Amino acid sequence: MGSWTLDDIAWQRFDRSKVDGELLRIVKAASLVECNGADYAQYLCKVFYDDAAFQAVAMRWGAEEIQHGAALARWARLADPDYDFAAAAARFSAGFRVDVDAASSVRGSRVGEMIARCVVETGTSSYYTALAEASREPVLREICQRIAADEFRHYKLFYDTLKRYQAIEQLGVWGRLRIAAGRIAETDDDELAYAYYAANEKVAPYDRRRYSKAYARRAYAVYRPHHIERGIGMVLKAVGLKPNGRASRWVTRAAWWIIQARIALLTRAAA
Ligand SMILES: [Fe+2]
Ligand SMILES: [Fe+2]
Repeated sequence: MGSWTLDDIAWQRFDRSKVDGELLRIVKAASLVECNGADYAQYLCKVFYDDAAFQAVAMRWGAEEIQHGAALARWARLADPDYDFAAAAARFSAGFRVDVDAASSVRGSRVGEMIARCVVETGTSSYYTALAEASREPVLREICQRIAADEFRHYKLFYDTLKRYQAIEQLGVWGRLRIAAGRIAETDDDELAYAYYAANEKVAPYDRRRYSKAYARRAYAVYRPHHIERGIGMVLKAVGLKPNGRASRWVTRAAWWIIQARIALLTRAAA
């Protein structure tokens, strides 16, 4: 397991008056997504079927992701005593399943798999850092700081494995860029939208566009330029490009502009 457990969190510092209802909705969604860690770990063990050392790392990693879900769910329950995590988790897994049956990486190679994992850990590391900074509630802030530190460690772990396999597979820079861009584009896929729906809706049927927008509007709003800058640097590094060169500055500026434009669009649509 990681360096902390649920008992290390100062739950007694919880301050109901500082709970932000909008953050609560995305925290509930995040608690469900983290629970998919077990399925992803199982999938990684299949992809790296002859690498026992990495399999052990992947299982530990999966357990840490599940602990993230448990910490967030416990906080959500404090903030909203009516939140039924078990029911929400059942709704989520009934509507969204990770494909654990794949016999080889859906990214085409082990290097590709590690690039995709680095992109995901970059995303979670930036997201929880941003959530911690956006939260005025001290316990949520502490949980998100702890999780963000784990996610950064996960990135390094997958990055080290990426380098190890890159020496064997030698995937070209365009191939690596294509995989990173493809994984970033998948952020709009069902997993987050469905988690948001399962965590926050009990009656209405699932509408992907609607819940994808509802989730994105709230999630994008927590980011500040320094989170994006750091995230772009981490992705560029995984792809094998300079993390803080001129390209990084341009991409950061473009990404920040796109995020602002999307928030404005989503807010107008919700008004
Ligand atoms: Fe996590
Ligand atoms: Fe992680």
